Formats: sequence, C-alpha cells, structure tokens
Amino acid sequence: MRFYLIIICFLITGAALGQQITDAIEPEGGSVSQVVTGSDEVVAGLFAKKAGRPVRAEKFMVVAANPLAVEAGVNILAKGGSAADAMVAVQAVLGLVEPQSSGLGGGAFLVWYDEATSSITTLDGRETAPLSVTPKLFLDKHGEPIGFYDAVVGGLSVGTPGTPALLDDMHKRWGRMSWSDLFVDATMLARSGFAVSPRLANLIERDAERLMRYTVTADYFLPGGVPLSVGTILKNSEYAETLQIIAEEGSRTFYSGRIAQEIEKTVQYSNDNPGVLSQRDLAAYQVKQRDPVCVKYRKYDVCGMGPPSSGGLTIGQILGQLNQYDLAALGPDSPESWRLIGDASRLAFADRGRYMADSDFVPMPTKGLLDPAYLFARSSLLNTDLALKEVVPGNPDFDHALIWSDDESFELPSTSHISIVDSFGNVASMTTTIENAFGSRLMVNGFLLNNELTDFSFRTHRDGVPVANAIAPGKRPRSSMSPTIILRDGEPVLAIGSPGGSRIIGYTAKTIISYIDWGMNIQEAISSPHVINRFGVFDIEQDTLAENLTPALEAMGFQVKARELNSGLHAIAIGDGLQGGADPRREGIAMGH
Ligand code: GLY
Repeated sequence: MRFYLIIICFLITGAALGQQITDAIEPEGGSVSQVVTGSDEVVAGLFAKKAGRPVRAEKFMVVAANPLAVEAGVNILAKGGSAADAMVAVQAVLGLVEPQSSGLGGGAFLVWYDEATSSITTLDGRETAPLSVTPKLFLDKHGEPIGFYDAVVGGLSVGTPGTPALLDDMHKRWGRMSWSDLFVDATMLARSGFAVSPRLANLIERDAERLMRYTVTADYFLPGGVPLSVGTILKNSEYAETLQIIAEEGSRTFYSGRIAQEIEKTVQYSNDNPGVLSQRDLAAYQVKQRDPVCVKYRKYDVCGMGPPSSGGLTIGQILGQLNQYDLAALGPDSPESWRLIGDASRLAFADRGRYMADSDFVPMPTKGLLDPAYLFARSSLLNTDLALKEVVPGNPDFDHALIWSDDESFELPSTSHISIVDSFGNVASMTTTIENAFGSRLMVNGFLLNNELTDFSFRTHRDGVPVANAIAPGKRPRSSMSPTIILRDGEPVLAIGSPGGSRIIGYTAKTIISYIDWGMNIQEAISSPHVINRFGVFDIEQDTLAENLTPALEAMGFQVKARELNSGLHAIAIGDGLQGGADPRREGIAMGH
C-alpha cells in the first residue's frame, strides 16, 4: 500500500510540474502538453503493441529521463533558448536527480542537426584514459582480467570526464542564452532539494554495499547507513556550489584549479583501488568533432555517432543489411522479421567486436564496414530459413593489413538519453553516461565519477593477436551509445537514443524499424516489446506478448531467454508538428509547447 502511495505521489509531482511549466510559458499563450507515458492499452496482434499516444507539440520539445530535468529544458526553450542551451540545463538537472546515470563526472556524445546550415555535426565528449595508464590496468599479476566490479569500484576505472567540456562546446557553437542562466534551475533544485524517485531509491537499495565503500558517497545516498527512500527530499549543496562555479567561470574551471585538484585527490588517494587520473589529464582534455556516420535505410538517412562509439556503425550495419528485406510486408508479428533483425544484428556485432574502437588510436575500416557492396554480401548470409549456425566477422575493405582479435568488453546498462527540438528547427540528440549505475561510486564536489575505463577490453591480446579496444594512454573506450538523427530529403524526421549498455544498439534499431517499416507512432515504437540478439541468444522482453515468438524462434535454431530489457528510449518525431515518446520502462517524459 505504502509503495503505491509513493508512486502516486511521484506521479502527482509530475502533474504539479506540468502546472508549473504551463505557468512558466503562459506569456507565449497556449498550454504545454505533457504526458507521462506507459498506457497499458493493447492493440490486437501476436506481437501486440503496447500502445500509447505520443506527446504532441508545435514549437519545441524535450524528452529526457526525469520530469524535473525536462522541465528545466522546456523553461529554457520557452525563454527563446536553443536546443544547445536546453541540453545544458537538462544535463545539469539530470546530474542531480538521476545521478546514477550521468553527470559532470562522465562523458557524452552529441548529434546535432543545425537548421541554419541544414547539416549534421557530431561531437565526442567521451572520457579519455589517463596518460599514465598501462595495458595491464585491469590484469592481475598472472596477466588474467580482474573481476568486473573489482575494476569498477574505486579510482582505477575513472577516465577524464568529457561532459562539462562538451556542454561548453555545444553552447559556444549553438547557444543563444548566457551560459550562467542555464544552471539556475539545477542550482536552485540542488539547494532546495528534490524528491527521490522510485528508480533512484530502488537502485540505491540494490547497490548499497558498493555505495557504502566510500564515506562521502555513503553519507549522501545512505545517510546513517539507511538507503534513501522514495519521496525523501534530497539536497546537494556541494553540487549547487560546483554548478555555480561552472556557471560563473565556464567549464575550464572544472579542468584546472580546485575541482581538478579534488578529482585527482579522490581518484588517486581513494582508500582502496586507487587510479591514476591526474590534473594533467584534466587540463589536456578536448572535445572532438567527428564525422557523422550515416547510412541509407529505405528513403531515410540514419545519422549517428562514429568511433569511438560503435553505435552509429553497428546500427548502420544492421539497417544496411535489412535494406534487402521487405520487413514492412512481413510485419512485427512475423518470427521471420525477428530472425532477419536478430541475425543481421549478430553479424554486425561480430564486426563490432573485431574492428570498432577509438579510430584516433587504431586504424578502422569505417568506410568498408558501411560499404553497400559489403553489406549486401553480409546480408546474403541471411538468405535461409534458419538461425545462422556460425557468426564470424567479415572482411570489409581495409587499407591496413592489420589483424585484430575479437574483444572482450563488458558494458552494463546505465546511461541516459535526451532528445530536444527547439523553436528554430535545430535538433539535438545526446546520450550521456557515467557507465555503471553510480559509476565508480566515488563522489566529489557533489557529483559521481565515471567508471568508463571498464568499457575498454580488459584483455589486450587474444592468442597473441591484439584487441582493437585495448586500453592506451589518452585513448577513448569504445562505446555503444547511439544518439541518432534521421533525415528524409535532408530534413530531420526523428531524434532518438537510449541507455542500455551494448543493448542500446538493438533497442534503437528496433524502434527505428517499428517507426519506419511498421508504421507505429513513436510512442508505440518505443513501448513495443524488445526482441534483441547480439551474440547468439535472443533476449525477449519478459511478460510481454513477444514471448509468444519463443517457440518459432527456437524452431529456427535460436536460443531464447526471457528477461527484463530496461531501455530508456527518448525520441521526437518531426513532421506533423512534434511527437515525443518516452520509455515507459523508466521515469522519463516528453514535454513541449
Ligand atoms: N558506458 C556505456 C557506453 O558507452 O556504451
């Protein structure tokens, strides 16, 4: 009973937020549409769509993982800010209210559609490996990989954060409001406190043992040794102070001076598992503009983040192979559709494991991996009725004679995705992370530090052959984050992305296919059950009608496992006004005007 009361309180908080927002933008007239998604309405069919209506707006929209963050972004857009301005405000609040997923201590990738130049730009704010790491960082004295959480918890896994620099960079390029104004909502909220959400409370409880390892972290999330409960009003004056300093002095103050000193001290002198991140790494950090990775899918150009993310390339490979097959005719209820999607995905993941890493450090066949002739050849492997028995990497056109070994990297789901469209027609799609839930569990100046270095392969070689995603000084760990913008005839039609470790790729690809091929509205496409294959086992979202696919997939030769698939898809469809969809599996909402 108490649990349900708490949930109702949380939803009422959301409704109250809607009221505040309506007030905030009343001068412009009209009302803000806000829907907390997750309707249980079910449309008939074997592969039933968990329906839901998208949130509609005309001028601008924000979709993100927490109502308070969405509200901050909408406030900025209502004042005439751009999507870049709103992104800064949303991230500043997410770092407070969803601290387990992203924040100042992490990294992010941005895909930006610029209305003025009709062009896509991608910015890489991924963490870097400290300059004094060695290849043995995650190996024991016998040269064997250490346990995953032995690496994650503590200073060892902390890479140089990129998010503050990325926010600053995007604001300098596309901001319209003053930098300091973008932190007002987050700073006030950090001072006055916010209600701990069900998801945050649940994750604190589940992670209590690890969070207790460090006093600062324990005092914040488990005061007096008791996990924060839903609805507790949580203040973070240190975070407020950090935001105020960044608001006044810009992001450089994060990378030099007092904040940098505190980060170094926390990482290097943590009472166990110290790391090597230093002020030198922070001072040297740079955001990189990368070439977008775009692939033709049906009548659309699907554009995403290139290396060091594997997101754009792997989604591009999946869709590029599926171009040969008429998924629209097969429909979402057909096991054949899922065989094609699943095995196209396995083939793409095989290439990902072998070839994809930070292309500043290792040569990559980026062009070869998306070459239409190569994808056609890969997709012809799918001309069968059964699951592929063997899936191995292909041989894309590569101007290097290097041989890479398949890698072994763990990625566990945390992370957050934000989609924004502003009233000028700019579109921003950003995925942001501190990697594991609560990152390294080290907290400094009110924010958590990432454990992004565990996205590198722990092994540097396999049978004497090097792994492309091995750690090196200054290198960026391979990511699966897939912020995406889809164009039709050069115009943006969809911004999308998700958290979820390497399943991000499957979540995003499924939603794009559901939207483009199966004509679902964006909320239906997000809410529809996940059926994901990366390495051979079909993950089917448990307690959904997609479980009915199991016998047919097993008869084709697939192993099938029903499980929770906790995506956090946040998308905006652009065309007939704006239509926002937020993932009912998490706490996000869409809100616009
Ligand atoms: N740490 C999650 C990712 O970058 O894919």
